[in-house]
Amino acid sequence: MLSTVSPAGVPSQRTVLLKYFDQNGFVFFTNYGSRKAQHMEGNAQVSMLFPWYGLERQLAIVGTAAKISAAESLKYFSSRPRGNQLGAWVSQQSQIISSRQLLEMQFEKMKEKFRNREIPLPDFWGGYRVKPISFEFWQGRPSRLHDRFLYALDRAGEWEIMRLSP
Ligand SMILES: Cc1cc2nc3c(=O)[nH]c(=O)nc-3n(C[C@H](O)[C@H](O)[C@H](O)COP(=O)(O)O)c2cc1C
Repeated sequence: MLSTVSPAGVPSQRTVLLKYFDQNGFVFFTNYGSRKAQHMEGNAQVSMLFPWYGLERQLAIVGTAAKISAAESLKYFSSRPRGNQLGAWVSQQSQIISSRQLLEMQFEKMKEKFRNREIPLPDFWGGYRVKPISFEFWQGRPSRLHDRFLYALDRAGEWEIMRLSP
């Protein structure tokens, strides 16, 4: 779950797939014109929530989001099935559309356009990397005596680890 805030200060959240993470942060892919992208352009601070209800566990991350390079996006885009690549071209994510039929017609048109050739990376599609500034790990325990550990970056760039009351 990715939470962003609009320029007017209104929060919203949605599921995105975490594609990979590395020492520099957490990477997901989306449409650069989508509502979430517009939010992140205005306010790069985001929050991500990873719940594992069966394990009574959650991880909440706060960080700053930045677009990854087109080269890095292309690497992932190229690995996707052709249908998904065409879908990325067709979707003006978060815009109002008149019908599903229109969407399907545009998909067919795009399929024709790129027939027998490699589908290029749309310039309005790619990844964001969220660089974490805090992690909160939560583990359910009996009698509501849950464990909560907050890892926060201090001014020296070191991770400070604190136990929080449940
Ligand atoms: C299981 C699941 C995975 C999803 N993965 C993504 C994703 O990786 N990228 C994405 O842009 N939207 C993904 N979506 C759709 C988003 O939740 C959301 O509807 C879309 O990105 C538009 O959000 P926005 O209008 O706030 O920008 C996923 C939805 C579900 C239910």
